[in-house]
Amino acid sequence: MEKAWEGRFKEKTEEFVERFTQSVSFDKELAPWDIKQSMAHAKTLLKAGVLKEEEAEKIIEGLKRIEEEIYKGEFHFKRELEDVHMNIEAELTRKIGEVGGKLHTARSRNDQVATDERLYIKDKLLEVFSLLNQLRRSLVNLAEKSLDIIMPSYTHLQRAQPIRLAHYFLAYREIFLKDTQRFINAYRSSDYLPLGSGAVAGVDFPLDRFYTAELLGFNRLCRNSMQATADRDFILDVLYACGVCGMHLSRLAEDLILWSTEEFGFIGLPDRLCTGSSIMPQKKNPDVLELIRGKTGRLYGNLMNLFATLKGLPMAYNRDLQEDKEPLFDSLRTIKDCLEGITLVLEGISIKEDRMKEASGGFTLMTDLANYLVMKGVPFRQAHKIAGSITAYLIDKGKKPEDLTLEELRSFSEFYQEDALELLDSEKVADRRKTFGGTSKEELIKRIKVAKREEGIS
Ligand code: ARG
Repeated sequence: MEKAWEGRFKEKTEEFVERFTQSVSFDKELAPWDIKQSMAHAKTLLKAGVLKEEEAEKIIEGLKRIEEEIYKGEFHFKRELEDVHMNIEAELTRKIGEVGGKLHTARSRNDQVATDERLYIKDKLLEVFSLLNQLRRSLVNLAEKSLDIIMPSYTHLQRAQPIRLAHYFLAYREIFLKDTQRFINAYRSSDYLPLGSGAVAGVDFPLDRFYTAELLGFNRLCRNSMQATADRDFILDVLYACGVCGMHLSRLAEDLILWSTEEFGFIGLPDRLCTGSSIMPQKKNPDVLELIRGKTGRLYGNLMNLFATLKGLPMAYNRDLQEDKEPLFDSLRTIKDCLEGITLVLEGISIKEDRMKEASGGFTLMTDLANYLVMKGVPFRQAHKIAGSITAYLIDKGKKPEDLTLEELRSFSEFYQEDALELLDSEKVADRRKTFGGTSKEELIKRIKVAKREEGIS
């Protein structure tokens, strides 16, 4: 097989070198975007007077045929041709003859590959946005349905204060909204056209790069040909956004795993989303959630991987940069799967309201018993101490706060009156948190309304 660069070589390439340097086994994923780019490049070359009308037409026609073959899975990528770019170019020339060789005028694989990657990211992120939108909407719908469900919140994984379950779902909706913003940032930093930068120094043909940008849907141009070909920071942005989002998915998955245990018993997972054990007949395992938690590791790894690759590279393009693709493809594939998975699980859970309510009482009410005294003028530190003594007393007696009588309360502080007993109800306690962003029903109704408006839910 002829190589595009064979002119200056006297020896046949060593088989090892072919195997070691090839990237086509993975960068063939870029093929649709490589073709799109080449079509725009042909049009730009036509506009620059480098190609004649019929030459550009022939090239675009040939590229369309290749695109179709790739789409149908009939295209045969050859390792000897190194990468996706040279595979497509070689096939173009095989199909349309010598004129195919004019396509690479005023272009280097260095600006070509950076352009493919940016195009690829922009399209893939649209899929990520749609999955994130779906997830956020599911969370808002769940919040609306669980407005009247009371549960304990946790700090240090110890029961803390009663909340409404809606508050939990809205917390994650807020978190995924921030993640969406991070992906938007990554999209923006990818939205610059490198093509027309050549190998490193720009090109000596009168290319109208603004025209190319318009054809390819880039809103901006890389303004320096060295930066254009050396820079992979936009990929770091994508990998970072994937890593952060993966971390959130992992934490959410962990809660759902815990909640689905017999010990918590807060939710049930649907059979269709669980798997069994090959040895223990009773098992129903939350494998989807565990894998969502587990895959976060590779998302972090991919970011570290590219960070390490980029460190110390001299200006401008270096072949090391070929190593940027596998982490990128892997992270985008992984985050899409995890987003799809978590949404499926969330939409399938059954909520065990009674268990949640039962767990929400007891010592989660103690903060409010302290605050009651504060409202009567007792300094918070002193009130905290008194409520602490009540806790110790209850533990000693093997009793719960709900069992307290007014006399018992008054033996700790004479400020306690009849209305203090109202604080022994977790629902009432939750509804006392009326501040902006708090868990009271009143506040949550407002937050759900805003969230629905923001998500376009009617
Ligand atoms: N496969 C290469 C990459 O992914 C394409 C660019 C190669 N450029 C070069 N001058 N060898 O980075």
